[in-house]
Amino acid sequence: MCGIVGYIGNKKAYPVLIKGLSRLEYRGYDSAGVALLENGTDLNVYKRQGKVQDLVAFVEGKSTAGTLGIGHTRWATHGLPNDINAHPHASGDGRMVLVHNGIIENYDVLKKELIKRGHTFKSETDTEVLVHLIEEIKSKYKVDLVEALRMALNEVHGAYAIVIVSKDEPNKLIAAKKSSPLVVGLGDDEYYLASDATPIIEYTKNVVYLEDEQIAIIDRKDGLRIISIHNKEVSPEITELSMQLEELERGGYDHFMLKEIHEQPRAIHDSFRGRLNAKEGWITLGGLKQYEDQIANANRIIIIACGTSWHAGLVGEYYIEDLARIPVEVEYASEFRYRNPIIRKDDVVIAISQSGETADTLAALKMSKDMGATILGIVNVVGSSISRITHGGSYTHAGPEIGVASTKAFTTQVTLLAMLAMMIAKKRNTISPRRFQALLDEMEALPKKIEKLLLSADRIKEIATEYKDAHNALYLGRGSSFPIALEGALKLKEISYIHAEGYPAAEMKHGPIALIDENMPVFVIATKGPNYEKVVSNIQEVKARKGRIIAIVTEGDTAVKDVAEYVIEIPEADEILVPILATIPFQLISYYIAVMRGCNVDQPRNLAKSVTVE
Ligand code: F6R
Repeated sequence: MCGIVGYIGNKKAYPVLIKGLSRLEYRGYDSAGVALLENGTDLNVYKRQGKVQDLVAFVEGKSTAGTLGIGHTRWATHGLPNDINAHPHASGDGRMVLVHNGIIENYDVLKKELIKRGHTFKSETDTEVLVHLIEEIKSKYKVDLVEALRMALNEVHGAYAIVIVSKDEPNKLIAAKKSSPLVVGLGDDEYYLASDATPIIEYTKNVVYLEDEQIAIIDRKDGLRIISIHNKEVSPEITELSMQLEELERGGYDHFMLKEIHEQPRAIHDSFRGRLNAKEGWITLGGLKQYEDQIANANRIIIIACGTSWHAGLVGEYYIEDLARIPVEVEYASEFRYRNPIIRKDDVVIAISQSGETADTLAALKMSKDMGATILGIVNVVGSSISRITHGGSYTHAGPEIGVASTKAFTTQVTLLAMLAMMIAKKRNTISPRRFQALLDEMEALPKKIEKLLLSADRIKEIATEYKDAHNALYLGRGSSFPIALEGALKLKEISYIHAEGYPAAEMKHGPIALIDENMPVFVIATKGPNYEKVVSNIQEVKARKGRIIAIVTEGDTAVKDVAEYVIEIPEADEILVPILATIPFQLISYYIAVMRGCNVDQPRNLAKSVTVE
């Protein structure tokens, strides 16, 4: 969480920083700030509670000169989201400023020591402690800024991606990272720094991903130099970005979320393109090829993830157990890592993550690796931390997801899990050739089915009008559609702020049925399949308590129509692919309800896209 940017070159830094911060706003939008070094002497710091646009309004009319600067967009951890706690934070003498993404865990102890040595603090942040610590070391040991930073970083515990500007070294940007991401963009005599590549892509495709405990020293004359915090020289490894700039624009849609919902046919196609061929009857996941035997012979598979990605993991559990007959456990990363789990060498641990940066998922993976398991990733963001620490993995190829609520990332994760399950099932001979071929055919047909489903967006909008004022909602599903009920409820909660719960349809009788009255919308997945009859009975139970039923059914279904207030038809598909199709109406319902309620769909309150704090 939090986005940081930096620029050093010949251009005016301010517009580059503001544009970069707007691109990173998905990482947090509690406050924004910049620092600009003008003529190497004046350090102008502007910061404001609120969004980047609030900062822009605040800066209007003030000096924005300078070809070197840093910026920050915040998701508050320590201290309220106000002007004072906004970054950048300055040293006591005001000669140095710093932006930070992460958490300094021992900040309290350090702060108390610094206060004893005469430091005073303006903010409640851990970041201000770090900049004072560097200042203290610099003056105490009479060392230069890089050395002071290096020594300070050896004293701090926690996570950081930081960029520093100092009047004492006016031709340098200095940055460092541990556990939070940081990318250096290499232009012509100019350098960019950012939490991810999105602020950099329009200027250069050549980037260096900093590794943990590395310090980047960027000098106008001498260019980029990297050292470790243990003072070892590191030679920079340049990567070429494949992302396109247009992928970061709204492209005529009112919101990124709507654009991303509509991108799903393309995204899903990209997630299996080149990886399966129905005509030739094969499926392969390149990044996992080397680990096929380990997966196929695994004692069990542990899937770790958070939020929506955890829901994808739950669908994956159904797929892998059903098709490949390997036991699967799906774990919240945040719980798994703190409960002394049993991890064995023949376990395969798979992390699912859109951002590839989620702190808990990353830490749980590292722990599993240390305990000897094979760790794999299903990740969207290319070059992200999870993709770099895993033994192997597959990218979902959903393209950049900017809306904070995950949509296309989820459906591509589920697509990949279906492919993974099919691939292992084939290897283990737990799937008949006929079923395997049928699934390959279904998979290739999926993007067209989603296109068709998206044609009902206007009707779904009408349905949304009916329920926009609800205070609560229930989502029900059975089998592999149960996680879709959870996901539907999460989407509604996070963007429209309506309280919603997802339940296995049969569990309703064990408590939640007490909530049902004539005001309760109950969204049910009642598609044709082995559980159909049972779900229809569950719908009757809701109906008998006057609940308002909105059912997702298979095209042509008539039985549910009679009892439901509304039905939304999805194209007929193999049971395995129903979770993907059933997700889409739920995404649209949440989207339209949130818009009608005047909510900020792309940036819901209190949330951030990349959760890089525990
Ligand atoms: C909800 C949502 C979050 C993320 C969760 C994990 O719409 O996006 O619940 O799924 O924060 O993030 P990743 O997938 O980046 O690890």
